[in-house]
Amino acid sequence: MTDPLTTELLDVALEAARRAGELLRDGRPADLGVAATKTSPIDVVTEMDLAAEKLITDFLAERRPDDGVLGEEGASTEGSSGVRWVIDPIDGTVNYLYGLPSWAVSIAAERDGETVVGVVTAPMRRETYHAVLGGGAYLGVPGGEREEPRERLRCRPAPALDQALVGTGFGYRTERRVGQAEVVRALLPTVRDIRRGGSAAIDLCDVACGRLDGYYERGLNPWDFAAGVLIAREAGALTGGRPGVPASGELTVAAPPGLFEPLQRLLDELGAWHD
Ligand code: IPD
Repeated sequence: MTDPLTTELLDVALEAARRAGELLRDGRPADLGVAATKTSPIDVVTEMDLAAEKLITDFLAERRPDDGVLGEEGASTEGSSGVRWVIDPIDGTVNYLYGLPSWAVSIAAERDGETVVGVVTAPMRRETYHAVLGGGAYLGVPGGEREEPRERLRCRPAPALDQALVGTGFGYRTERRVGQAEVVRALLPTVRDIRRGGSAAIDLCDVACGRLDGYYERGLNPWDFAAGVLIAREAGALTGGRPGVPASGELTVAAPPGLFEPLQRLLDELGAWHD
């Protein structure tokens, strides 16, 4: 049984993600350009990232004024309630910029530092994923007018490593990308194939719903993975970083039991957790 506060946080997250997703889908300017760059010239922000983060933070301030917020585009408040929201207004900004459909709004709620709610909405796929800690992961919003029926998610049974379809992603700094390319070079001949979709949140949901066998990436920020890691875990995947370390910015790995261990071990041997 989910307690009333967590249920409220889920409702708020679903509504915030729905509103932001609509704004982004319906309001994308045809001539959308780069508004600013962040950690490197290829780490871009568009006016729509900023508009969506503002929509979400305004909505949270109205519905949950005492909560803390951490957002990719700079939202940062402490809060006093023990709840913190971790927000990526557009995960997959480069896809969004180019008009590729694989982008998502990712919203997680933490209680006393633990992620208890994760929502990822991918408007161009017409899919919304959500999970509550200990309550399973689902596709679709009950009662949502444009969503498909609610479906409990289960990750795919583990294949052998050499039969695994593995997703990954790359950071924005050149030195890190060189190291990531070396890991891909070593990994590619040992798995079925590798995918780079461009949205870590969607990659993690793809593990949850069995469209990918596994996923790993070095260098994610909390807003990229907080919601997706909970969704993958609640769908039966194991998640972590290096052996014995939880998923973090250092390394995030997600895969079903049986694939997780060999994938994590190989990534550790390849040094996928350091530059
Ligand atoms: C990026 C995406 C991408 C991943 C990058 C992230 P953003 O997030 O999740 O798939 O490879 O590491 O930074 O910048 O589009 O929010």
